[in-house]
Amino acid sequence: MESKLRGSHFITEQDWTIEELETLFALAADLKAARAEGRPTPLLPAKTLYMIFFDASTRTRNSFETGMTQLGGHAIYLSPDRMQISHGENARDTAKVLSRYGEGIAIRHCAFGEGNAYLRAVAADAEVPVINMQCDVYHPCQILADYLTIREKFGNTRGLKLGVAWTSAPNYVRPVSVPQSLILMMPRFGLNVTLAYPPEFRLMPEIEAQAKANAKAAGVRFEITHRFEDAFEDADVVIPKSWGPLVTTRNTAEGLRLIEKYPTWRCDRERMALGKKHLIYMHPLPADRGREVTDEVIDGPQSVVYDEAENRLHVQKALMALTM
Ligand code: CP
Repeated sequence: MESKLRGSHFITEQDWTIEELETLFALAADLKAARAEGRPTPLLPAKTLYMIFFDASTRTRNSFETGMTQLGGHAIYLSPDRMQISHGENARDTAKVLSRYGEGIAIRHCAFGEGNAYLRAVAADAEVPVINMQCDVYHPCQILADYLTIREKFGNTRGLKLGVAWTSAPNYVRPVSVPQSLILMMPRFGLNVTLAYPPEFRLMPEIEAQAKANAKAAGVRFEITHRFEDAFEDADVVIPKSWGPLVTTRNTAEGLRLIEKYPTWRCDRERMALGKKHLIYMHPLPADRGREVTDEVIDGPQSVVYDEAENRLHVQKALMALTM
């Protein structure tokens, strides 16, 4: 398949133009239809993707690995503790060597202040595309799947209201990459975005500033509020999810204490009733059921979380087919 994007890295969706992203969504829709019809799509025969996971995963690992199988290629799961990274091998040597063997390197590295820098260091020396499977700053593949899901449900996305709301989930401190990629990309596709969080849970200032600039350029609204309900009122789509107060504190115990401070920031039936009649509930998963969201909502008729998770497969197949 001819592709102008062959060899391109995908570290953040912000680096890709709308035209490039539209090419990806069009191919994702084709690949989704082909799979539904049982048509094989061997676009990457005999090609190999290396997947380096510094952090745990269910959806990302399995959708990339399955996606490569469906494209006629092969994906290899790599854990840094079983690689020479654990003995200090640097990003350059890892990038150079894997580039001699295969056609793509995908990395998940969510440590705050480290992950994105590592991905960029690998990309600087890789001779094959580097794909971000989530870092401390961005989760671009998740947001591709989220946008495809919204477009499938609504058709034209211009003028829709998307509420992105922080929720309380005190099991562990989650990265800020999902809300950051959401506020960056959704305004570019014409959605008005309301971002709600308690003051300690602000996102990286440069990302909030870039999101504002993206919204201004697209002629849509981007607002930040400290009231949970603002994300739901009159909304078409809500994505309520937890993240850590990483911009405020890197101390885990302090972070967990701050998360416990706001137990009422939970998506429930009453909050969902504040939105438009057709309001849909999305979550990238895993969700902390009972804390972030009630079972009634996540298992209810407004929830599209499994469509959203499925779309990870289709957008990532398109991404790999276009770049590798
Ligand atoms: N949404 C997401 O990235 O899921 P995993 O952490 O299971 O990969």
